[in-house]
Amino acid sequence: MTAAPKLGFGSFSTPTKGVLIVFCDDRLAFGPATRKTLGRAADLVARAARAEGFKGKSGAALDLLLPEGLRAERLVVIGIGKAADFKPRDAVKLGGGAMGRVPKAAEDVTIFAELPAGALDPGQASELAQGVMLRAYSFDRYKTKRKDEDKASQKRFITITVGDVAAARKAYARREAVNGGVLLARDLVNEPANVLYPEEFARRVRALSKSGLDVEVLDVKAMKKLGMNALLGVGQGSARESRVVVMRWNGGKKGEAPVCFAGKGVCFDTGGISIKPAGSMEDMKGDMAGAACVTGLMKALAERKAKVNAVGLIGLVENMPDGNAQRPGDIVTSMSGQTIEIINTDAEGRLVLADVIWYAAGRFKPKFIVDLATLTGAIMVALGQDYAGMFANNDQLAERLSKVGEETGEKVWRMPLGPEYDKMIDSKFADMKNTGGSRWGGAITAAQFIKRFVDDKMPWAHLDIAGTGFDSRQNDVNRSWGSGWGVRLLDQLVAEYYEK
Ligand code: BES
Ligand code: MN
Ligand code: ZN
Repeated sequence: MTAAPKLGFGSFSTPTKGVLIVFCDDRLAFGPATRKTLGRAADLVARAARAEGFKGKSGAALDLLLPEGLRAERLVVIGIGKAADFKPRDAVKLGGGAMGRVPKAAEDVTIFAELPAGALDPGQASELAQGVMLRAYSFDRYKTKRKDEDKASQKRFITITVGDVAAARKAYARREAVNGGVLLARDLVNEPANVLYPEEFARRVRALSKSGLDVEVLDVKAMKKLGMNALLGVGQGSARESRVVVMRWNGGKKGEAPVCFAGKGVCFDTGGISIKPAGSMEDMKGDMAGAACVTGLMKALAERKAKVNAVGLIGLVENMPDGNAQRPGDIVTSMSGQTIEIINTDAEGRLVLADVIWYAAGRFKPKFIVDLATLTGAIMVALGQDYAGMFANNDQLAERLSKVGEETGEKVWRMPLGPEYDKMIDSKFADMKNTGGSRWGGAITAAQFIKRFVDDKMPWAHLDIAGTGFDSRQNDVNRSWGSGWGVRLLDQLVAEYYEK
């Protein structure tokens, strides 16, 4: 069982043992502190680079055992490519890439947070540390056999050497809080549905009150009273009761309208009576990735004491076929009063969000609502796994999300909304139906459905994370099935635009 490494900051002058990791550019140039530490070993590096054909390309590495002239037992040189192409925002990836090069048996690891141009500033160094820890995560709660290499990882200590240790530590506190949110989101997505059902999810959120979150849980009785029949209809075929959880963080001015996040929390999606085929159905334990993101985000905001009022809501249900399950053709009255004809019980996420968003807007009068949901397979057809689909009724909110997406690497691509699509969900028998009738534009008709529960005057964005929330691309900062996608994105949105 691989354990998360311990991490600390140190100064460049500390002698290093174990594994030393340094960076060079495509001209094999090092920063001044690195050059000084390498000393005589620099010649060895140059010769080994020639022998290996190592040219300092971005992501390439040169691994040297027992380097002469160094106290370290192993030296790993990592290329960053053209020095001029390196952007400050690449620091997180740099850290993740470095962690990926840590030899399995290494216990003592030192990473020199320096590029040819000089030491990374404290902010970048703390982001490098963030990348290291994001990359180091693995979910092995259910692995009972321990491998040899796991023993080293258990004892691993990573030192990141920087110019100003105190400043780096201070900058890292914020990143560490955000990481805590990302890792919580990953854990939640990775958990199997026999362990993580709505009540258990709600219990885990309740435990976050120790971070300073105000947590409230609505049970079935409370939801019936509120008229959340769209959400309740989805959960009615399950032996596990549905829940809605409200998390609040009040770090802003008293009485100031909060920012609001809502997440789809389908703990397992069989499709219901419109049952899914068996192939890959196990992936549907991750159909609560939107809720996991909102939960991780709220924890992150609380842990870093964000100067903002924020509210996070998650709709937790299990979509099962059963004698009591919802049928195609059923008509439910949502909390908004609008009626919905159920065409396909597998289009359940939008039904959950309809009530959660309506409730959130009415109760909290937020500045905006961003919802996240593993909503449609169609968004993967459209965008693959590198961008989440974004739908918005407000250009400013959409542009902000696009920008922080580029900054964090959790990218979003705006998709269209419009009356042509909206009329595709008109129903013969009710105000609307829960699918568009055609498979074409499936992610859009799903977004149009949610839009019918949002006041045009309230800024709203919907992120379809079916392609990014789980089983997503393996990259420098994520090797986990559940990616924790969106926590860093939305934390950055809050930090950049909504904190004073
Ligand atoms: N949770 C699924 C969407 C999904 C599928 C996410 C695969 C990630 C991977 C959602 O509830 C669903 O079943 N959507 C249907 C909608 C259809 C019935 C209109 C879909 O995408 O096929
Ligand atoms: Mn479904
Ligand atoms: Zn679903």
